Amino acid sequence: MGWLAESGHCRACGGVVGLGTVAVTGAAGNIGSVVRVALRGDADRLVLLDRVPLRAETATEEVRIVDLRDAAAVESALAGVDSVLHLGGVPDEAPLADLLQANVLGTHHVLEAARRVGSGRVVLASSNRITGFYPTAHRTRPLEPARPDGLYGVSKVAVEALGQLYADKFGLSVICLRIGSFEDAPTEPRHLATWLSPRDTVGYVRAALTAPQSTRFATVYAVSANSRRFWELPDESVLAYTPVDNAEAYASRVTDAEVPADPSAPQAGPYATPEFTLQHIWP
Ligand SMILES: NC(=O)c1ccc[n+]([C@@H]2O[C@H](COP(=O)([O-])OP(=O)(O)OC[C@H]3O[C@@H](n4cnc5c(N)ncnc54)[C@H](O)[C@@H]3O)[C@@H](O)[C@H]2O)c1
Repeated sequence: MGWLAESGHCRACGGVVGLGTVAVTGAAGNIGSVVRVALRGDADRLVLLDRVPLRAETATEEVRIVDLRDAAAVESALAGVDSVLHLGGVPDEAPLADLLQANVLGTHHVLEAARRVGSGRVVLASSNRITGFYPTAHRTRPLEPARPDGLYGVSKVAVEALGQLYADKFGLSVICLRIGSFEDAPTEPRHLATWLSPRDTVGYVRAALTAPQSTRFATVYAVSANSRRFWELPDESVLAYTPVDNAEAYASRVTDAEVPADPSAPQAGPYATPEFTLQHIWP
């Protein structure tokens, strides 16, 4: 435990203190690997879930090899946790059956386990691809109707709906982060709008885990402070995090960065093409 400032941050290390036991699903993945390291100083205990092998790297980490499709295994792994960061699942376009199993059923198992074990907060990894068909000229807000750009986006609509259901019906506290493009740095023109830096990823996750318990349900876009972003940043009353990175700083290194974007083209770019989805229906 560090020295607790009023904000809930440790003055000595900048981390958040008092998180108790935090479970991270999909802990072996791209985002899980980064967030896990950042949360080490904040949580008394980190329970790391994935279906692929991973190792505990500190005395406060515990590993559970679990398939999210197995409800009993998920509940057993989440016993005693104070909050859950649910990152596990299929992170891109795939056959709908796979998305329903891993993303929709998997999320249901996590929420139901969180309800049964009494977790205070569940943070769900949602996606910007829920609204990929809004045009690039439109600044999209989280409460606008979904316009998913593919089957993956549809699965995340269901993920958010499950979160809303568990908040309304069972009183869970659920925050959905519509993650942008998680990359070390932007590498393509779309990233100049959609980039989510590792530093801002950790910032959004910490803010979601530490938001007041009075937050019953919230959905926000988790995107860096990119000048060209398509999405509204979170209102401070909903989630207290202001991103610090801006993809514009990398624009000179991105090929075609200055080619004007078609304002009527879908925000999802190539993900919105029919072929991108059809290849998974008729491989
Ligand atoms: N990376 C991005 O830019 C991005 C953007 C938007 C949303 N997201 C969402 O964030 C989350 C994490 O993304 P990521 O980039 O780290 O993905 P990733 O594929 O690197 O990690 C996902 C992890 O989930 C695990 N997993 C998959 N199916 C599982 C199952 N049935 N049981 C147990 N574990 C399972 C995988 O083994 C993997 O380690 C995902 O939910 C993804 O949809 C990511």
